[in-house]
This record gives sequence, C-alpha cells and structure tokens, in this order.
Amino acid sequence: MKPIRILLVEDNPDHAELAEMALLQEKDVGEVVWVESGYDCLKRLDGNGDGKFDLIVLDYSLPGIDGLETLRKINKDGHDIPAIMVTGHGDEAVATEAIKMGAYDYIVKTGDYLTTLPVVTVKAWKNHRTDRENVELRENIEQNYLDTLAILISVIEAKDCYTRGHSEMVSKYAFAVALKMGLPAEETEDIRTAGLLHDIGKIAIDREILVKPGTLTADEKKSIETHCDYGVKILRPGAFLRRILPIVHQHHERFDGKGYPQGLKGDEINPGARILAVADSFDAMTSTRAYRSAMPLEKALTEIERGSGTQFDPDVVEAFLIVVKGSGFGVQGTKVNIEHPTSNIE
Ligand SMILES: [Fe+2]
Repeated sequence: MKPIRILLVEDNPDHAELAEMALLQEKDVGEVVWVESGYDCLKRLDGNGDGKFDLIVLDYSLPGIDGLETLRKINKDGHDIPAIMVTGHGDEAVATEAIKMGAYDYIVKTGDYLTTLPVVTVKAWKNHRTDRENVELRENIEQNYLDTLAILISVIEAKDCYTRGHSEMVSKYAFAVALKMGLPAEETEDIRTAGLLHDIGKIAIDREILVKPGTLTADEKKSIETHCDYGVKILRPGAFLRRILPIVHQHHERFDGKGYPQGLKGDEINPGARILAVADSFDAMTSTRAYRSAMPLEKALTEIERGSGTQFDPDVVEAFLIVVKGSGFGVQGTKVNIEHPTSNIE
C-alpha cells in the first residue's frame, strides 16, 4: 500500500507534535503535514504544488474558522479526501454534526486519544479506499453493460442500413439540447444514455416491417408501436437504467396527447422524452430512409418549428433551434456536427 499522506490541522503546536509522532508510529503512514488553521488547510488543499493528501485530521477548535466550517468549505470545493474530526471532551454535538457533514469519523480528545488516533486514521483511509474501489467497480460494470446494449443497438441498426448511426445522433442532439436547457447534470446524462438506447425495443419487431418501403398497414403500425414497451422490458433488469425507462417508454408521445403508447400530454410526458422526441424526429427527417430520401436541413428545421406546441414541447423546440442554428455547430450535408457540444459535466 502506498504510504498515507496526512494533513493535520491543529492550532496547538504541542498537541500537533504529539499527534504527528503518534500517527507516524503506524507503518502505513508516510508523512504528516501540519497546518495551524482552517484557512491554511484550505490553501494546502487548493494545491501549492506539494502533492495530494490522502486524509485530513481536523481539530474542531481552531482560530478563524472552526473545524466544522473548514469541513463545509472542503466539501464545497469538492475535495474527495476523507476527514476525521477531533473534538474536545463534551463536544459530542460537534462530532454528530461533523458526521452529518460527511466526516469519515471523529475522535474525542480523551486520555487514550493518542493511541486511538493512528488506528482510527488508518482504518478510515482503508475504508475510504475500499469505497472508492467499489464505486469504480460498479461504474465499470455499468459501462460494460451499456457497451453490450450499444452492440445490440448496432445489431438493430445493421438490419436496416438506413438507420445506421441514428441512435448515436439522437443521443448527441438530445444531450446538447438538455445542456442548453440547463437540466441537472444527472438528468442530462440520463437523456444522453436514453438517446442511445431509445429504440432498443425494435429488436423485437419483425425486420420486414422495419424496412418496409411502402405505407404500413394498421397492424404493422401497431406492431412497430410496441417497440416502446419492449424497450422497457429489455432495459428493466439493469438497475442503474431505471431512471431512463420513462424516457425510452415515452419517446413517441406527442405534446398534444396524440402520440403513443399512452397518449400522454404536455407536462405528463417525461422532460427527457420530450427532448428525445424532437431529436429523434429531426434525425429521422434528415436521414435517408427506405421509403424516402433525406430532407434538406432548413426544411427539417421548419418542420420542427411547425410542430412546436402540437407534436413537440415549445421550450424544447426553442432550445433545439438555438443548438442547431447556434455557433459552434457546423453543418455537414444534412447532418449537424455536434461532436463537441459545450459541456460542463464532462
Ligand atoms: Fe422509436
């Protein structure tokens, strides 16, 4: 294990020296850097070019800002470093507050404080490291799952050369619109994922119907419409995909209530699904299909504008038009290049 580098925040030099000596008794502890105040702690964390700390031992009683306020600022600055709060005897309320604010543990300065400090510190670091590894592991599993689903999408799109790359384009358009509309980061990511997977239910639809050049019969239309339900059935086992299920299920709903599968209206429709509806229609219009050629970009934009308030949510249309017409989005043929939408969450 890499030696632990600790930032010790303690205003009393004698206490600091004793704590440092106690901590260095632990073989896993490599270095203890001592600072006297919360301000100095924050300055160190903001990086003075002296490397990253693995853990903070933070005294509650400090000059200037106290330990709790320091902890609040550490959290606000987004430092992913476990902190242990050291409180005086009788400061249990402070300890509770510190835990609520995300401190990893607390130690009360009692008689055996110098014995417990190194033990608690190393344990906190090991637990934190395990937590982080678990998060990484879960993220890897989720990514692998998504990659597998993306392969499934490629299989669907490979069945019909006209829809190749459609899901990826829908995802890019929808993501850019969600960013433009200022949706929360998590929702924006969900919309991007839903864009990639929205038509996964088509795997259950007869290929002959999917690629049929002529007009569809009523039964064939009904059959295609089931892809929204199938999409949910296919994605439901992926626990981390639960949030995108309504988006996938509702991406063919219309703002005026005339869509499918449920005929939802206006705000009843999931906001992500309202975004996907525009992105999906736009990419479909500007792509060549078995039964028609691609529509010129300007005409497709006019069609989207025309659908505002009937087929589409007007707020989404407004954002979409800004995204497509706005600077930074070059037009390539009938496709809009949105390879690099401005993102603050990537
Ligand atoms: Fe669809």
